[in-house]
Amino acid sequence: MLRFLSCSRLSLLVALLSFPIAAARCQTATPIPSQIPGHDAVLLGTDWYPEQWPESRWEADLRLMEAAHIRVVRLAEFAWSTMEPSEGHYDFDWLERAVALAAKHHMVSVLGTPTAGPPAWLTQKYPETLLIDEKGQRAKHGNRAQGSVSSPRYREFCRKIAEQMALRFGHNPDVVGWQIDNEYGYAFMSYDDYAHKLFQNWLKAKYQTLDSLNAHWTTSYWSQTYDNWSEIPVPVGEHNPGLMLDWKRFVTDTWNDYQKNQIDVIRQHADSRQFITGNFMGFFDGFDHYIMAQPLTFASWDDYVGSGHVDPDHNGLSHDLTRGFKQKNFWVIETQPGAVNWAPVNNFLNRGEVRAMAWQAIGHGADEVGYWQWRSALNGQEEYHGTLVGPDGTPVPLYEEVSQIGLEFGKAQSALAGTQPVSQVALLHSYDSHWAIDFQRHTEKYDQVALLESYYRPLYRRAQSIDVVNPYASLGNYKLVVAPDLNLIPQDLAQHLLQFVQSGGHLVLGPRSGMKDQFNALLPQRQPGYLVEPLGGRVEQYYALESDFPVSGKWGSGEAKMWAEQLKPMASDVKVLLRYGKSNGWLDDQPAVLTRRVGKGRITYIGAILDDKLMNAAADWMIQVSGVTPVFGPVPDGVEVSRRHGEGKDVFILINFAKDSGHFALPRPMKFLLSGQQGSSLDLPAYGVEVLSAVP
Ligand code: GLA
Repeated sequence: MLRFLSCSRLSLLVALLSFPIAAARCQTATPIPSQIPGHDAVLLGTDWYPEQWPESRWEADLRLMEAAHIRVVRLAEFAWSTMEPSEGHYDFDWLERAVALAAKHHMVSVLGTPTAGPPAWLTQKYPETLLIDEKGQRAKHGNRAQGSVSSPRYREFCRKIAEQMALRFGHNPDVVGWQIDNEYGYAFMSYDDYAHKLFQNWLKAKYQTLDSLNAHWTTSYWSQTYDNWSEIPVPVGEHNPGLMLDWKRFVTDTWNDYQKNQIDVIRQHADSRQFITGNFMGFFDGFDHYIMAQPLTFASWDDYVGSGHVDPDHNGLSHDLTRGFKQKNFWVIETQPGAVNWAPVNNFLNRGEVRAMAWQAIGHGADEVGYWQWRSALNGQEEYHGTLVGPDGTPVPLYEEVSQIGLEFGKAQSALAGTQPVSQVALLHSYDSHWAIDFQRHTEKYDQVALLESYYRPLYRRAQSIDVVNPYASLGNYKLVVAPDLNLIPQDLAQHLLQFVQSGGHLVLGPRSGMKDQFNALLPQRQPGYLVEPLGGRVEQYYALESDFPVSGKWGSGEAKMWAEQLKPMASDVKVLLRYGKSNGWLDDQPAVLTRRVGKGRITYIGAILDDKLMNAAADWMIQVSGVTPVFGPVPDGVEVSRRHGEGKDVFILINFAKDSGHFALPRPMKFLLSGQQGSSLDLPAYGVEVLSAVP
């Protein structure tokens, strides 16, 4: 049970009923490399479910995996009924044989705890282990993620199976790590009376007195005043914004405690060399990932495109988001082998696209790329999902492309060892702010991920490397820090940001910044709250737009879309960079962007969502004013470049996501690690990839 008190943000140590809820709302970076000591720096993997097949078949599968240069298998995350066929009777012999056979074929194993799929004997005998949904219905057996995350009984069974697995495999040399649960049950909560009581106790531990809670939530509004902790509801649908935000934090703490219940017991019995990870899902926002990632060795995520084709900006941003959870390299522990089975149209990715995605992951800091799954079970809900071998056990056409990836990982191993992306630019991402805006979007189309992308896209093109970090992260190494939607800026966070500015950094705030405190209550200073004074300006009024409004100034002319704020300079040295044109009368000729030098740095406030043309000009200005240098140099449109940096070396990954081939000059002669050549210019066909390093 731990919270980092060095983070002066509201902190809380809570012991609740039968189990503790742990919470830590700020992040510390640990320098443990995610590479597995003694193994390749970047690894190709797949998900293998030996329990679904006769043992006589295993070796044929493993032989095919080895031939494709697969080096990691993830197993067991849905095998609870095979590992514990009846209460307290465990059978791990088959798993041990599977791990040993994989090792014979030069593959290491990652074991998933099977707690996203409890066995039928468990849920039937102990129905309280099944969650109750928002409508009061108890989940039924037969799907997954139906366990109640807050049920002490369910936790007891989860702990026991994790413990038994750790006792059996914690010292197994071929088991390199663990995955907890699977996608953390999509953050589902149980709405039973027990969970409700836990929430009330969580609030009590946080606020201590009802007076404090009533004041911070302004419960005199709509007669919500609480005289007893037991009166406080669980929010279903719209509710008090303070309560809704605390509910999300409670969900985070509950899931974090659920995973710690398993992590602690694994740590107790397993070698410290074995890593522990969890598979997140990009921008899924069911809980605060910065908190959930804390007890993990490194973060992983499941990178699926679904319908259509990869959007390199969205995908790159999602990789960078995941890397930022722990500020270190991560794994793409699941990705799409061509097609999924759950999207509106489950089209297949184009030839070469899977390879381009794999290399994009590596470029953004992944140390493993794993395909879900090797082979489809002959029955079960996911019969149609993409695989690497067909139901007959022979390779599907994509197998060849994946095996090419494995071969190429081999060629770049030594160059990539000990490297990671290093950036001069950071985007700030906060779950609290994200939730706060989503609770009250004010205009239904307000899409914060799209807003983040509108900054990421032009900035990435120019800087060619961006970190996405929690606002409390240490910012000292960045030249430019951009917060497109930091709605909640409590005083301690304002100080943290100001310190970055005063020591020479450039802070750019987007619309809706600094509107609220940590209780989701409006700040009386107006936006950007505690930063009004240093900015030397504030937001007079915000407007949700029915149509686009003109804006012009230093960045040229264009449009404000969806959202516009009327800004007011309040100090003589504040510069207005953009103004609105004729619009709704209120905004006509009013400032839309302010900037001011502060200490050795600068604060800029952008009060509108700007069109792409203006965002490009804004990015040019931000990069230039902040002194950011690109990590590589010019590349044609549609070509993505990323860099991994290590002691004395830089490795560049270039991928052509455009439809046409590209031929372009390199900033200097370089070695081509995949083709084995070297030169001063590069040809890249559509979906073409090359990995470059300096010529010695
Ligand atoms: C998720 C799950 C997997 C599988 C895939 C299918 O990522 O973790 O078990 O269901 O989706 O795309």
